Amino acid sequence: MPYAHITGWGMSAPEPVLTNDDISKLVETNDAWIRERTGIRERRIAREDQSPSTLAVEASINALRVANLRPTDLDLIICSTSSPEYIFPATACLIQDQLGATKAGAFDLLAACSGFIYALNMAAQAIRSGSIKSALVIGSETLSRYVDWKDRGTCILFGDGAGAFVLQASDQPGGVLSAVMHSDGSGGDLLSLHAGGSRYAVGESASPNGQHYIQMDGKEVFRFATRVMASSTHEVLDAAGLTLEDIKWIIPHQANIRIIEAAARGLKLPMDRFIVNIDRYGNTSTASIPIAMVEAVEKGQIKPGEKIVLVGFGGGLTWGALAAQWTGPMPSKGTVRPEQYRLFARLRSVLRRAIRFIEGLLYRREL
Ligand code: COA
Repeated sequence: MPYAHITGWGMSAPEPVLTNDDISKLVETNDAWIRERTGIRERRIAREDQSPSTLAVEASINALRVANLRPTDLDLIICSTSSPEYIFPATACLIQDQLGATKAGAFDLLAACSGFIYALNMAAQAIRSGSIKSALVIGSETLSRYVDWKDRGTCILFGDGAGAFVLQASDQPGGVLSAVMHSDGSGGDLLSLHAGGSRYAVGESASPNGQHYIQMDGKEVFRFATRVMASSTHEVLDAAGLTLEDIKWIIPHQANIRIIEAAARGLKLPMDRFIVNIDRYGNTSTASIPIAMVEAVEKGQIKPGEKIVLVGFGGGLTWGALAAQWTGPMPSKGTVRPEQYRLFARLRSVLRRAIRFIEGLLYRREL
């Protein structure tokens, strides 16, 4: 059975920074309170011309460059997102088109902030089954567009960004070792975004009770999160036949520094075993784990051969963890420049539309 190795990684963060002081001009809050209660100092907010797919494409090109893989080599693209560009088409299909990943199947996965762990597990399983050889897994968000900037309980938390991993099959042991996924829909109301689905029509006039904003019971979500971070870490280690001593780094979902500290206490581990960058990005939902990992790898913190655990939780409720042995880029010949495929991808996209138009005319004549 092939192993699923993480061989490429990339991230993209919008340039505009929103500080706690900026937020204190919008709602009754202050920098000291936000830093003490969440660990967040600032977050990135997407520009108007940026979207989950454009951020994802930048992150993906960086990841493909590290993996030395062409977009046309990809068999599968999974985009985990809590703020998809549309209900459909899937954001993953927009990414497929912009990258020129001509051979890839593409779909979105919605498991809120646990989505990246779920998606990584799905892609790894597809590789381990032998049905595909390479996959691109993305977490990408512009959740700031669903934030109620009058609600101080939520607007301080969220930020925008994207992270992407390339997974490849190899006979060498390592890569993704085990994963666990859990859910409890009875807690769905604790963290939700109702409008845009089929129950509520879209738009402010059609959702007078703010269903188009993120709603959250912060205290309950906090309690749930502190419970599941430690338990799912133990569970995923048992599944891989490992113990905490084997693990060099824990990469937690970056929701609140106090949740991460509670997880550290629950696991009886010092905080320096946790990768943390919440102070600069806030909670970027599905993008938080890959962004934290990309920064840690690029700083030389996470090294090839080290064993790591990714652990997260989110709306749904959902939670999960994944254990892996960090691979680093695989040795390969030549230097691929995935960004060069973007022009080709744009031309191909226009051509495909033209062909569909001509086919439509011919087909109509046949009827
Ligand atoms: N600025 C200043 N004061 C604030 C505030 C803010 N942004 N938000 C709430 N307060 C006030 C409250 O009104 C309350 O005042 P009171 O005691 O006079 O009633 C007090 O601060 C404490 O509020 P509380 O809601 O108990 O704070 P908290 O310590 O639970 O922190 C969260 C609130 C939202 C930061 C915290 O509950 C949290 O992070 N929960 C998890 C949320 C999460 O991670 N969601 C994403 C999951 S993927």
